[in-house]
Amino acid sequence: MKKDYKLPSLKDARRRDKESSEKLSFSLDSRYEGLGENKRYHIITHGCQANQRDSETMAGLLDAMGYTMGKDEKDADVIIINTCAVRQGAEEKVLGEVGALKRLKNLKPDLIIAIGGCMAQEEESVRTIMEKYRQVDIIFGTHNITSLPKLLYEVTTTRTRRIEVFSKMGEIVESVPVTRFMSHKAWVNIMYGCDKFCSYCIVPYTRGKERSRQKEDIISEVEELVRQGYKEVCLLGQNVNAYGKDLKIDYTFGHLLNDVAKTGIARIRFMTSHPWDFDDTMIEAIRNNPNIMPYIHLPIQSGNTQILKKMNRRYSREEYFALFDKLREELPGFAFTTDIIVGFPNESDEAFEDTLSAVDHCRYDNAFTFIYSKREGTPAAAMEDSIDRKTKEERLRRLNEKVAFYANQNNQRFKDQIVEVLVDGLSKRNSNVYSGYTPENKLVNFTGEDIRTGDLVKVKITEVMSFSLNGVKVD
Ligand code: 5AD
Ligand code: SF4
Repeated sequence: MKKDYKLPSLKDARRRDKESSEKLSFSLDSRYEGLGENKRYHIITHGCQANQRDSETMAGLLDAMGYTMGKDEKDADVIIINTCAVRQGAEEKVLGEVGALKRLKNLKPDLIIAIGGCMAQEEESVRTIMEKYRQVDIIFGTHNITSLPKLLYEVTTTRTRRIEVFSKMGEIVESVPVTRFMSHKAWVNIMYGCDKFCSYCIVPYTRGKERSRQKEDIISEVEELVRQGYKEVCLLGQNVNAYGKDLKIDYTFGHLLNDVAKTGIARIRFMTSHPWDFDDTMIEAIRNNPNIMPYIHLPIQSGNTQILKKMNRRYSREEYFALFDKLREELPGFAFTTDIIVGFPNESDEAFEDTLSAVDHCRYDNAFTFIYSKREGTPAAAMEDSIDRKTKEERLRRLNEKVAFYANQNNQRFKDQIVEVLVDGLSKRNSNVYSGYTPENKLVNFTGEDIRTGDLVKVKITEVMSFSLNGVKVD
């Protein structure tokens, strides 16, 4: 079939230069204002925090065009699916969702369905959607979010399918409208992209090169959030420790943490730290500022040096332990979590045992564990893999058992203690119970009177489970 559209290219997306990224300033073309008058939208978000934040930008752009947020997909004239490509399972889920929307589109032919996010950067996924999912009107890439108003305008006026996906290194666009989905906690991008190229990971291809926002833009965003009453910010980047390196200035993530702490925001978190550039200025900043939360997510991925090498992680088992032990010692009372992949191509039983013993060494508060998923276009996809699925599943089960054991053991220290909780609202599972997080990022479900979302309350912990705590509000 002859294509009348241009597919994205993972090969082009691999390119990197040493130049600083261009900074652009967004303004909405007046032609697009009012296009959404009396129309509603619904956004479905998959994947990581970067996607959550991107969905808030999409909502901000649509609100600026006059659209309003609908209750659900049935209540929408525009449905956006913000996709994740990090594992096969996430992609299959999206295709299932798009398939199910066909019925809605048949009932409502004017419905506009748009697909954005990391899947839109992959040539195979885009080809599949273009050929097999005719109900999709717009495909837009991670570098093309600010084109959403233009694409919606074109679809509305011409009723033709639009695809805009740039496979480029990326720039930084400031002053883009945002509609935040929460009023007490905010995601703040500090950098975009990733240059680490771990051999299994699609992210450096789908999100472009590592590029940092200017510190002034970040700090004034946090200051504005403080003025609006926000209690927590989470500084986001695929690898926040590399902040500033591309700007070629003598200002690192440690400096940024100190400056963000000075804004007076009650709680600061950050995601994600690669063990590679975790330096002493970061540790100092974390130790010296009480509003930086005592919680560090430090992905290990594997506990075996050979597998780490094949993963292109740039550290050995011993180097990871040296950093981890130093953090444990210098940051007492902190909670530590990690990410682990089992079943990387040809991971031997011994290599997997090394991962289990690494968990014994680190005694994590929690770990996000995954079975390796082959991502076309990455170096690991070309590696031979003779480990069968059943073995991988069994490894995941054994790993999860160990993770739960340490999670439970770590939580015991909170029994009968009074902890500070930032209230998220009523618990999703039980409407008589509130939920929120402690500084260590422990989920607490609790009861009490006179509680509002965004309050910082004191809770006495009455019961301890592996992955949450129960309690009662005191005072
Ligand atoms: N297969 C399985 N897990 C993956 N991750 C990233 N790429 C893959 C993959 N191909 C995991 C890593 C990363 C987390 C966000 O997702 O553990 O830290
Ligand atoms: Fe992927 Fe590695 Fe970059 Fe994380 S650091 S986004 S795992 S390539």
